[in-house]
Amino acid sequence: MSDLMAATFPPAFLWGAATSAYQIEGAVREDGRTPSIWDTFSHTPGKTAGGDTGDLAVDHYHRYREDVALMAELGLTAYRFSVSWPRVQPTGRGPAVQRGLDFYRRLVDELLAHGIKPAVTLYHWDLPQELEDAGGWPERDTAYRFAEYAQIVGEALGDRVEQWITLNEPWCSAFLGYSSGVHAPGRTEPAAALRAAHHLNLAHGLGTTALRSVMPARNSVAISLNSSVVRPLSQQPADLAAARKIDDLANGVFHGPILHGAYPQSLLEATASLTDWSYVRSGDLAAIQQPLDALGLNYYTPTLVSAAESAPPGPRADGHGSSDHSPWPAAHDVAFHQTPGERTEMGWTIDPTGLHELIMRYTREAPGLPLYITENGAAYDDKPESDGSVHDPERIAYLHGHLSAVHRAIADGADVRGYYLWSLMDNFEWAYGYGKRFGAVYVDYVTLERIPKSSAHWYARAARTGKLPE
Ligand code: NOJ
Repeated sequence: MSDLMAATFPPAFLWGAATSAYQIEGAVREDGRTPSIWDTFSHTPGKTAGGDTGDLAVDHYHRYREDVALMAELGLTAYRFSVSWPRVQPTGRGPAVQRGLDFYRRLVDELLAHGIKPAVTLYHWDLPQELEDAGGWPERDTAYRFAEYAQIVGEALGDRVEQWITLNEPWCSAFLGYSSGVHAPGRTEPAAALRAAHHLNLAHGLGTTALRSVMPARNSVAISLNSSVVRPLSQQPADLAAARKIDDLANGVFHGPILHGAYPQSLLEATASLTDWSYVRSGDLAAIQQPLDALGLNYYTPTLVSAAESAPPGPRADGHGSSDHSPWPAAHDVAFHQTPGERTEMGWTIDPTGLHELIMRYTREAPGLPLYITENGAAYDDKPESDGSVHDPERIAYLHGHLSAVHRAIADGADVRGYYLWSLMDNFEWAYGYGKRFGAVYVDYVTLERIPKSSAHWYARAARTGKLPE
């Protein structure tokens, strides 16, 4: 039996976990940090469940040593975290705050000392508030500011971090932040969301160039996309057209310019009532289409759509929170449906076939580009037993199913180099606050004690043996 048939992963496969700064760090007023759009948003009444904020989060800023020791205990070989922009550049421009950078230097050194490969995400949604006050992502200047920030962090950490990710899920930044408004900064301006998407793309391109100008050539630069697996409800032409439209708005709007140097013509036509895209200046597309070293894919659940006119009655279910405003500009003619099957605590249907489909799509779309699953995981309502242990068999099943899908994709010829479980530990789940637990490690939000759940032990066995435990 070949290794692949025995569900053995390639020896160099990275077994990682992921987090982001605002979701775990806390210490929001320490060492020169200023508010980000998420500080402002979470402190605005009614924006997050229970009024939860990231003020304390899981206090990782003070407990990072303990957290890295835990990662080592769990046998992780990689850890993906994000740098908080307002910790490094409080106003979003100008010189860096060394104390802010020092935190990340210490964290990286601690990881390396434990043999854990760091992967740095530069932007995981915490835009310095001052940049939003100047217009935010719909403004072109924000992309230039990002490039400057990328250069600062690249200079500080480029000697010890090999894996770099410019942006995390720019779709959420643009469309949840500026169209449906369920994420910071909470604006509901669909045309501005499309401008934001372009300037996020430009930020990625300029940021990539800035990183490369200051880092050793061996380092790898990627972007993490939450590329949706969009499926039509039927094979009727109207439903197929609806699926193509959402595929453009979810995927093509980013991978079009990033991988192929152009926005899809069908996207430009579908959004013509909202924007003429005149902010795409000459030279932008070349600046955006930088050769990448890898592509990061975040996957949770597929998206099922039909034409609105043929939609059976029922609630809208695009899985992106409730708002009177749609995150999908110019898509009033599309209806979203709940995919049948079991769901996680987020209400997201569990469907590992979507992950396989996604990997194979990018294997075709970007031949030769190594892929990483930079996020995948599930929220469940975990609770400690009377003996203090936390059992989460549903999460083990979720991870088993999705890692098997990754394995199948590798067997089918995909070049997947690693997997980062979302998330290392329970944390601030954005608009849902602390109510949704994604961690492999349980966090007691009163004592801040960390307790590895049974899924963490399961994952540790997978990481140690390179095989999925039964
Ligand atoms: C995507 C985001 O990158 C992450 O911050 C979030 O917590 C997870 N998905 C789960 O919703």
